[in-house]
Amino acid sequence: MKKTVVATLLIGTALLAACSSDDAQKEQQTDSAAQHEHSMANTQQNGPMDHEQLVLKDNTGTATLTFPEILEPDSKKGNNVEYSLAAQSGTTELFKGYETTTYGYNGSLLGPTLRLKEGQHVTIHLKNELPEATTFHWHGLEVSGKADGGPHALIEPGEEKTIQFTVTQQAATLWYHPHPMGNTAQQVYKGLAGLLYIDDAKTTTLDLPRDYGENDFPIVLQDRAFADGKQLDYSAVANIDGTYGDTMMINGVINPALKTDKQLVRLRILNGSNARNYLFHFDNDMSFTQIATDGGLLNKPVKTKELLLGAGERAEILVDLSQVKGDRVSLVDDKDVVLLPIELSKKTATASTSTNLNEIRVDKSLEKQEPTKVVKMEGMRENVTINGKKFDENRVDFTQKKGVTEVWEIENAITDEGGMIHPFHIHGTQFLVLSVNGEKPEPSLQGYKDTITLQPGQKARIAVKFPYAGMYMFHCHILEHEDNGMMGQIEVK
Ligand code: C2O
Ligand code: CU
Ligand code: CU
Repeated sequence: MKKTVVATLLIGTALLAACSSDDAQKEQQTDSAAQHEHSMANTQQNGPMDHEQLVLKDNTGTATLTFPEILEPDSKKGNNVEYSLAAQSGTTELFKGYETTTYGYNGSLLGPTLRLKEGQHVTIHLKNELPEATTFHWHGLEVSGKADGGPHALIEPGEEKTIQFTVTQQAATLWYHPHPMGNTAQQVYKGLAGLLYIDDAKTTTLDLPRDYGENDFPIVLQDRAFADGKQLDYSAVANIDGTYGDTMMINGVINPALKTDKQLVRLRILNGSNARNYLFHFDNDMSFTQIATDGGLLNKPVKTKELLLGAGERAEILVDLSQVKGDRVSLVDDKDVVLLPIELSKKTATASTSTNLNEIRVDKSLEKQEPTKVVKMEGMRENVTINGKKFDENRVDFTQKKGVTEVWEIENAITDEGGMIHPFHIHGTQFLVLSVNGEKPEPSLQGYKDTITLQPGQKARIAVKFPYAGMYMFHCHILEHEDNGMMGQIEVK
């Protein structure tokens, strides 16, 4: 990780001169209330051109972190489960005495956690109770194109739709969110997002914390900016290069602290932000252990002190809080801004954990193959493209055969304008990373992924197989880039 950060820093230095000519013009377009950040620290994390991003404030920990409820099925018979999810608008008291207009699933903000088991036949009744069209997309889920909920699957206000699929992938922390073309960023910003866990038989035999909300905590990180009257006014804060907030919202709570015992905990972290990347570590610099990537467990736990999560990515980490001196430790970002304070009470016995978690095998022959698909992400602001093109729902960019593995090369290209981080995501599949800039991927990338965060100038090769057929999207997960057409589609037959 350190190495790529330094490389980006150098690119940033070289491009800073080129950036500054834009400053005057850009300042005018920006909300006057917004604080700007032009420091090199900013360059380090997000690329040289993000002049307008709001500085994140410390999470003050004045509230208590809560956890989304687990959605109860409408019915359950053997392996058949049925659920109902409605996208709704409402108000939420995020700040004492203020009613903020928000969106949510089966509620006013975010959504319940959907907990499915491998092998289950799932029926979900979807309902759009919003005043605008939306879709229900299952990020990271291997499903047919029909059930995937991409931009073609619009559900109009008042409309209902039922989808069905079978869960055929391993245990993982996935999520769901809307995907209407040109309108995804705004809807997610207002609160549409939820977690989707997959459990499987093998994982439940492992020695890992698994008590939801007790020692296995969902952590949905989202930065938000509040306009007049503490409203989530997207148009007032929207930034074409990714909308940032100055306030930390976790699981839909503003400035929350996690309150728990001094025990071994599992944090399932989703970067559900529109654009912000988090390069996080603990303020006491303790190590922690990454056990899972987007699509499931790593083969072996990876001990580390820092981790980068781009928009849309997830990681599961184990943290031994019994080693903390004192009663507080905080998860902080690379600028030491407090993301999540953890308040500790009594000490419990240290638990043992499994060391063999998964059996992912990369087909060696793929490492030598030339890519059959090349994806070049480039540009900034309104100029973002994939392979020089903007998304067109009537154009099929790629085709691939169901069940066949192909090598894709993903490039985050630097142009005359410079470069910035783009998290690249593919629907309907979990891929494996073969190489990054020609080298073996870091341990934290050696698990199943559906999103890979690339620094400017980085090129990754990935092995992609779609288990089902249909039309799927691939795109940058900075939601404003996606809405601006940094997306393509692939038809799997
Ligand atoms: Cu998380 Cu195309 O989406
Ligand atoms: Cu997705
Ligand atoms: Cu992007």
